[in-house]
Amino acid sequence: MREAEELLKILEGAREVFVLTGAGVSTPSGIPDFRGKGGLYERISPEVFSIERFKKDPSFFYRQIGPMLKIILDAEPNPAHYLIAELERRGRVKLVATQNIDGLHQKAGNRKVVELHGSLEAAHCLSCGRSFSKEDYLQEALRGRVPRCSCGGVIKPDVVFFGEPLPSRALYEAIKAASSADLCLVMGSSLAVYPASSLPEYTLAHGGKLVIINLGETYLDPLAHRKFDLPVEKISREALRLLGVN
Ligand code: OAD
Repeated sequence: MREAEELLKILEGAREVFVLTGAGVSTPSGIPDFRGKGGLYERISPEVFSIERFKKDPSFFYRQIGPMLKIILDAEPNPAHYLIAELERRGRVKLVATQNIDGLHQKAGNRKVVELHGSLEAAHCLSCGRSFSKEDYLQEALRGRVPRCSCGGVIKPDVVFFGEPLPSRALYEAIKAASSADLCLVMGSSLAVYPASSLPEYTLAHGGKLVIINLGETYLDPLAHRKFDLPVEKISREALRLLGVN
């Protein structure tokens, strides 16, 4: 596959790579994306991820999303995650900033990861602020029921809903890495949700290159040094093979 060779050549020419990932890197692991073909928003309204709506009616979120969390928890990394992990091992990757909450980059072996939209690992009570671990709240959530704190308050996973700010430390780290990188590699994101979508602009503004691997258009395609409109797992599998990694 000529494209994988081309991708590796671009990566080899880079001093420091900032990787931005979205739901498209996890579809080959069986987790649906949001706006792609067959994505979640063809079946459910984005309102399910609105913090306003969650506060008014948390059962709306847990009924629709709760049972789906099992797919995320059981998922395994795919070649796209493994390629990024291999690039980190080879000292190429400065940071991976992901919009995903599935923890698959860490599962694949990446250490330098920031989760821009949070994760399912922890949760907190919206009334008293008490923290909970995954084990404390997921059983109820998986049954589509609202997990509750001993104070009676609603427990919300520490994932970012529409209307909530991004975790400031994660965003700060991502902006810093995107600004110093000479290559931003976007994988599997429609780049439709701000501020994550704007991160490649920090690399571009500092004279770096942008490479996008995504099925479908993004608003930054015209500014990309190279756009691969290909399945991430396909080009990644071939790149891993060329690197001698199985
Ligand atoms: P999207 O669903 O918006 O975009 C995923 C992109 O990946 C789409 O353009 C797909 O066509 C593409 N894609 C799917 N499978 C692919 C594959 N195997 N290879 C290459 N491309 C593939 O997901 P995100 O950009 O991550 O936020 O969405 C950003 C945020 O919107 C999410 O974090 C979530 C959502 O609403 C919140 O819920 C706050």
